[in-house]
Amino acid sequence: MAVVLVTGGAGYIGSHACKRLAEAGHEPVCFDDFSTGWRDAARFGPVIEGDLLDAAAVREAMRAVRPSAVMHFAALSIVAESMRDPARYWRVNLVGAMNLLDAMQVEGVGSLIFSSTAATYGEPDVALIGEETPQRPSNPYGASKLAIERLIADVALTHRLRATIFRYFNVAGADPAGGLGERHEPETHLIPIVLEAAAGRRTHVTVNGVDYPTPDGSCVRDYLHVCDLAEAHLLGLEKLLGGEAGHALNLGIGRGYSVLEVIAAARSVTGCAIPAEIGPRRGGDPARLVCDGARARAALDWTPRRAALETMIADAWRWFGREWGIV
Ligand code: UFG
Repeated sequence: MAVVLVTGGAGYIGSHACKRLAEAGHEPVCFDDFSTGWRDAARFGPVIEGDLLDAAAVREAMRAVRPSAVMHFAALSIVAESMRDPARYWRVNLVGAMNLLDAMQVEGVGSLIFSSTAATYGEPDVALIGEETPQRPSNPYGASKLAIERLIADVALTHRLRATIFRYFNVAGADPAGGLGERHEPETHLIPIVLEAAAGRRTHVTVNGVDYPTPDGSCVRDYLHVCDLAEAHLLGLEKLLGGEAGHALNLGIGRGYSVLEVIAAARSVTGCAIPAEIGPRRGGDPARLVCDGARARAALDWTPRRAALETMIADAWRWFGREWGIV
């Protein structure tokens, strides 16, 4: 059993990771400022309310918890918002990570799983993005995450730190057992917005541009179920704690779906009409982000179990149905 300090443990991905850690017999300790996380999602272990920008609070939490490892999810993560307020993204994401790494070093905590992103690659001109694809972020969110990756690499060289960096592609779905799912205010992500339109909670979904160089002109993304993502975190953690070296790994399915394909899949899963309108491009959106996930599957002995887009949409639909009181 390992005690794991989970920053952002009350958020969408962090809460699913905490649940999986607890199921596997570990103790997740949630560290969250509840700026975007949810108190009712932080229910899988002890909770510390705190802000990563408060270096003393982070150090105190690390001293009190004495974890075997840290999973670092807490961050600002909306691409369009980062285009409007880049300095805030740099400050929250980078300074928060610096405070966390400082506290780990002082308290002698030597294992870290870090949530990075496909947005660190920018707009690579390759069919499948591998870990060696050059990282040239095209928005401040991706740039701030890449800076943290570099910081971690530097700290790992000089101190006793082993880190696994996961570069997520697009995360979707909800725990099929119920009780956990995606909740953002305001919502900006495609699948929740499409389901809001399906439920009649918005009149339509706007497709953000159909003039991209993709088969149907809309942006293509690689969607991964949040429970498969949580499982990858558990496996990565257990390998680090078992003494293995860390990795930088892409986490995705390795198959791309366009915005129009996601809307079509949601129509078929929900049986609802889902009106769609074509709008302009959204700033900072790469045309296509699809990963080569082979390295992660091999390094982690990991097989995504809920890999079909329809499964992700169906699990999200069930979650939102309960949230919205329509099932
Ligand atoms: N989209 C629409 N209409 C909407 C909402 C989204 O057309 O109402 C489009 C977006 O423009 C984009 C695609 O759907 O082309 C996916 O958009 P999301 O906002 O769901 O996800 P992003 O790809 O922008 O970003 C997500 C995470 C980031 C992460 C990135 C990596 O939010 O943190 O995936 O691929 F960096």
